[in-house]
Amino acid sequence: MANPAAKRMTAPAIKAMKGTRRIAMITAYDHPSARAVDVAGADIVLVGDSLGMVVLGYADTLRVTVDEMLHHTAAVARGTEKALLVGDMPWLSYHISREESVRNAGRFIQAGAQAVKVEGGKPSRIETIKAILDAEIPVMGHIGLTPQSVNAFGGFKLQGKGADDARRLIDEAKAIDEAGCFSLVLECVPAELAAFITEQISIPTIGIGAGPACDGQVLVLHDLLGLYEGHTPKFVRRYANLGDTMRDAVAKFFDDVREGRFPDVATESFHAGAEEELKRLYGTQPASVTSIDGGNKSK
Ligand code: KIV
Repeated sequence: MANPAAKRMTAPAIKAMKGTRRIAMITAYDHPSARAVDVAGADIVLVGDSLGMVVLGYADTLRVTVDEMLHHTAAVARGTEKALLVGDMPWLSYHISREESVRNAGRFIQAGAQAVKVEGGKPSRIETIKAILDAEIPVMGHIGLTPQSVNAFGGFKLQGKGADDARRLIDEAKAIDEAGCFSLVLECVPAELAAFITEQISIPTIGIGAGPACDGQVLVLHDLLGLYEGHTPKFVRRYANLGDTMRDAVAKFFDDVREGRFPDVATESFHAGAEEELKRLYGTQPASVTSIDGGNKSK
């Protein structure tokens, strides 16, 4: 249950953090993971469209719908008290018209997010970002290897390698800053370019595969915890192996069930009145229940 007295991070507060301390951002997709990352001290929690790959089992992020995103955003909103909650607008939710983009962004706010994230920085995208901002919705930008453009890029490739591409990203970053976004994710770009962009713009940059000079860093929770079996990019640092821990724990449960070690009759079973009730109902006792004092009542 959320604590209404807890003070939540805001988009202007994140913007003001540039040059003061590094911003820690993480993804979450459900209530328990939201509780964990909020209590652990996240500044920003993103309900990323990575949801599609790490939780829903899709091959890419392009299949994720607004309705799926909103379902998870609402769960994460119920689980966070302190972090700024950003909803990731999925592919096609801000590509068709400005009206539709603003309406979809508004649905994220109504689901409990305080801001939305939008990929890309070309001129038409900047107009969309401005329309969303005009509806009083804070926007986080995202450039570099934007996964929703994977087909246009021809694969998951480092962006900003050559001088022309680097110049394009610098221009997009400046346009996103000037439009009024409160922060900018830089994904999979050379560390030197990310450092240059970070210096050149007034809003914080949050890096993922963009080197250490960004104003903050973000990772996908399931990558960090070892819960995703798909490809793990070079920039991921794995802090735990919860996938293995989960498999081991469940396998132990199955062993205990099959070997009759679960549940323990003394500590994991209810007793009061049950035997009398069964006798009353069926005129006999269950065949294999061992009593708390160890005597087998069926014998
Ligand atoms: O969808 C996502 O998780 C993201 C982050 C990697 C920034 O966009």
